[in-house]
Amino acid sequence: MKILVLNGSPKRDKSDTMHITRAFLEGMREAAPHEIHVIDVIDRRIEYCAGCFACKRNGGTCIYDDDMKMILDEILESDLLLFSFPLYCYGMPAPLKALLDRTMPLSSMAMQKVGDRYEHVGQADFSRLRYMMICGCGFPNSRHNFEPAVQQFKQCFPCNHTIITIPESPMFNAPEAEAVTVPRLALVRQAGKQYAETGIIDAALLAEIGSPMIPEEQYAAIVNGGM
Ligand SMILES: Cc1cc2nc3c(=O)[nH]c(=O)nc-3n(C[C@H](O)[C@H](O)[C@H](O)COP(=O)(O)O)c2cc1C
Repeated sequence: MKILVLNGSPKRDKSDTMHITRAFLEGMREAAPHEIHVIDVIDRRIEYCAGCFACKRNGGTCIYDDDMKMILDEILESDLLLFSFPLYCYGMPAPLKALLDRTMPLSSMAMQKVGDRYEHVGQADFSRLRYMMICGCGFPNSRHNFEPAVQQFKQCFPCNHTIITIPESPMFNAPEAEAVTVPRLALVRQAGKQYAETGIIDAALLAEIGSPMIPEEQYAAIVNGGM
């Protein structure tokens, strides 16, 4: 499988979230070999979408000649698009959002009704493409935190999506937290293997992965104590 990882953390490979993503990919590799390419989005020149809709009227060519051209080509060749990002203000970091906006050339101006919503008609057949979101965050609570980002991802990619969210993610970069992060990453590896083998992740496993690693109050006390 060709996997394109869009690392939305400005911390590049030092990203807390990328610990989770790497464990997931390791699990996938246990099941089968994969071709994996990681793009650190922060290092790419991606202009903001101008909102001109030129791409939707001229067969998919954007007015900007920047790194997005190559990224769109890679998306078209991929089997799995993996968005790895930290939660920023309940959404994705701006550079990754800029990339997402610039995927406009992949669909045409024409709208079609799918179920009870409208979407633009694709300029190519994306039915084989699968979408994965792996999102870490700094607060200990999963509820009242990830929902906007999760909803946006589901709306953007209504089919073939899988979503992993993990609170308390700065602990993945804290060696003193290994007693809880190592077992959590083992679960993530298990999820990766399962996903590669079956295309889905067991709901109970997803829920376990998405739960706080240490009690919320304890995590908040540690963070506050260190200030
Ligand atoms: C600009 C900014 C906004 C953030 N917004 C949130 C937020 O809405 N919810 C949350 O739980 N954490 C938030 N955080 C914390 C990060 O999600 C957290 O530090 C995460 O572990 C960073 O992951 P990374 O190392 O992969 O970049 C924010 C951090 C920054 C810098």
